[in-house]
Amino acid sequence: MPEIVFESPERQLLIERHASPPPGFVDLLSRVIWGTGAVRYTMRDVPERITEFAGSHFLALRERGALVGTYVLAPRTLRVAGHTIPAMYRTLLAVAPGRGQGGLGEVLVRAARRWMLEQADGPFMTYGFIEAENAASLAVAERAGHEAWGAFVAAPFTRWHPRDDGRVEEELAPSDASPGDNLGAVVFEGGPGQGTSPRFVLREAGEVVASARAVQHHWALHGLGGVSGFVARSVLPRTPGLRRLLDPDDLRFAFFGSVAVAPGCEPLLARLLEAVLARWNLYAGMVYLDPRGRSHAALRQSGLGLLHGLGVRPRVHVMGSAVRLSAEVAAALREQPFVLHFADDV
Ligand SMILES: CC(C)(COP(=O)(O)OP(=O)(O)OC[C@H]1O[C@@H](n2cnc3c(N)ncnc32)[C@H](O)[C@@H]1OP(=O)(O)O)[C@@H](O)C(=O)NCCC(=O)NCCS
Repeated sequence: MPEIVFESPERQLLIERHASPPPGFVDLLSRVIWGTGAVRYTMRDVPERITEFAGSHFLALRERGALVGTYVLAPRTLRVAGHTIPAMYRTLLAVAPGRGQGGLGEVLVRAARRWMLEQADGPFMTYGFIEAENAASLAVAERAGHEAWGAFVAAPFTRWHPRDDGRVEEELAPSDASPGDNLGAVVFEGGPGQGTSPRFVLREAGEVVASARAVQHHWALHGLGGVSGFVARSVLPRTPGLRRLLDPDDLRFAFFGSVAVAPGCEPLLARLLEAVLARWNLYAGMVYLDPRGRSHAALRQSGLGLLHGLGVRPRVHVMGSAVRLSAEVAAALREQPFVLHFADDV
């Protein structure tokens, strides 16, 4: 039986917490149009995405019994200044298509925040990543009490002819050793857990000098704004050979996380990511980077490719709430660059 985490008899609303997605959950998420002005898309791979969140809390918002909203709260950790803080990563927030702007999103986000904070008995934080242009989602998060802690740039990484690299290996055994270890960074765990994302490493003289995890995403694009949108809509599909880089109906790309590189080996990071594209027969990847971090500088040096050059690089705000943090952790959260890890690493 699901737990009831919120009830409003006047509005005939109910929020249930399930241990796995209830009927209709995947279908609703598959119909949602995500993204904002510049890039709008539906996810064609919701069943796979949901599998990565096994062990999470699946919130179902119901109105007179009908499913009208979804939200996933994934137990994760945040590593900062030598401390590991229990955390909850919020993702897949959606209101049924056609039901937006009616206050349902706010009900869901508020109730989820209250429930999470009630569960916590020590230091705890919850975070979610919201595109800077997603005014509705940002407004709802702020009203519910979350604050902006900083931002990532969602940087696309494209290669016309991705080259493999013999130094790159796919590691089967889990490993928690990252080159450079992202010391001096705030490490947010988002993305997959339970070993669903393979880890790729690049070795030199036996040492891992660059590493990353990757999962494949599959979208259909529904609207692209701006100059990049014009190019993507009008130029790419009509240019032989280029459609493979960006097929709006069938956009497959690698989403990278747990990106790390040893100091002095920065140029090898792009080689690693490109080798993953080559092996998976893909031409595009996406990386969340903090412009203050070393991986960002490393990838900028090697060039991120066409879409990045066209200015497709939305800012993504980290919106969170925290309780009982030490002064040291709170200060590090404000000052240190952010890194996105996949929970598969621990
Ligand atoms: C984000 C989402 C869950 C919000 O749910 P919702 O039910 O529409 O949200 P609410 O009605 O509670 O609140 C929306 C508020 O956003 C604000 N808002 C919406 N569009 C806005 C805009 N273009 N500019 C400024 N504010 C805006 C308004 O303040 C509005 O509240 P109000 O009209 O009552 O004053 C919903 O829009 C959705 O499912 N979007 C698609 C999926 C998605 O983007 N998910 C979030 C990923 S981070």
